[in-house]
Amino acid sequence: PTPVLTDRFSRPLHDLRISVMDRCNFRCPYCMPEATYHEHFRFLEPKERLSFDEIERVARVAVSLGVRKLRLTGGEPLLRPKLPELVARLASIEDVEDIALTTNGVLLERHVQDLKEAGLNRVTVSLDSLDPAVFARMSGGRAQLEPVLDAIDSAAQAGFSGGVKLNTVIQRGLNDAGVEALAERFRHTGVVLRFIEYMDVGTRNHWERAEVVPSHELRERIDARWPLEPVDAHYRGEVAQRYRYCDGAGEVGFISSVTAPFCGDCSRARLSSEGQLYTCLFASEGTDLRTLLRSDADDAALRDLLAGVWRRRTDRYSEERAASSDAPARRRIEMNYIGG
Ligand code: GTP
Ligand code: 5AD
Ligand code: SF4
Ligand code: SF4
Repeated sequence: PTPVLTDRFSRPLHDLRISVMDRCNFRCPYCMPEATYHEHFRFLEPKERLSFDEIERVARVAVSLGVRKLRLTGGEPLLRPKLPELVARLASIEDVEDIALTTNGVLLERHVQDLKEAGLNRVTVSLDSLDPAVFARMSGGRAQLEPVLDAIDSAAQAGFSGGVKLNTVIQRGLNDAGVEALAERFRHTGVVLRFIEYMDVGTRNHWERAEVVPSHELRERIDARWPLEPVDAHYRGEVAQRYRYCDGAGEVGFISSVTAPFCGDCSRARLSSEGQLYTCLFASEGTDLRTLLRSDADDAALRDLLAGVWRRRTDRYSEERAASSDAPARRRIEMNYIGG
């Protein structure tokens, strides 16, 4: 067998997160604040984005290097025309074990059946609040709550093999009062709610540590109302710390990149919609794959480029941040560009 590709800290390459669209129909203040992403913001032109052929080619080569999980992200991935077609192509790659989608849910209901039939295994919907006013504020005034809740129900009923998860970013003073309401709404539904600590991704959200609500605080609040017990991780390097309700109402998770970084097992690479490869969510620099993809180079050359990048990888940003008193000051790619 071929030796496993690992980085400088012995971490294998296991996940590839593919951003298919830099645009989004939301303007969440922690990700794409309206002040920056206004109507004159220059998003990519369609021809600057990787085509489905190009994405599939990168995915195939990544799978040959050990990738088993693929996740489609954005911006908002469902703004990319014909997304189910891409899912079907990726699902046809031998050795791919899991294909997931992260979406804000607005366009999900109309595509959910096609995505399922194309071979999507699971869906993660971002949902920050059940309070219509807070929800509106957190989406930058771009969306209504009800259609998103309907989409979550449809996805839950569609029967995805890996189920449906929710991502809730908590920002102190904005939506932290709604934590119990969210937990209550999704207990007994099979939908797994995950609370994410607000992170200093990108450079445009004016992140402050004081706005981060540590996961243990949320866990204690939920546990006081509905006792929780820990569940073992599904796999090495799982991002969320998992808990189950002792009364059998299901599971919740906590993603604590600020208070409990998980770089030690991080096996994720990220591909931007214009074909830059990043080895960390907080990277300042990527590796351009598009030039090679649009030249006459063969797959072996692409494979060498990818493998070389991974072998040299030393990223552990969240651990470095945890060790310092403030967010390390440096250039960072933006979240809509890389998809979380
Ligand atoms: P599964 O466990 O497979 O469901 O995937 P996941 O938890 O990686 O999925 P998801 O994309 O929903 O991740 C949830 C959130 O966790 C992301 O949106 C990020 O905010 C955060 N996150 C995911 N991966 C990383 C990572 O590598 N580093 C950091 N710092 N945060 C991450
Ligand atoms: N901190 C934490 N999570 C974030 N997301 C976007 N920006 C941030 C941030 N600053 C989350 C979204 C979505 C996922 C793609 O990333 O809520 O669920
Ligand atoms: Fe919000 Fe996700 Fe859009 Fe960012 S990509 S603005 S987090 S919906
Ligand atoms: Fe991986 Fe970078 Fe996140 Fe650490 S900060 S878990 S290295 S993506």
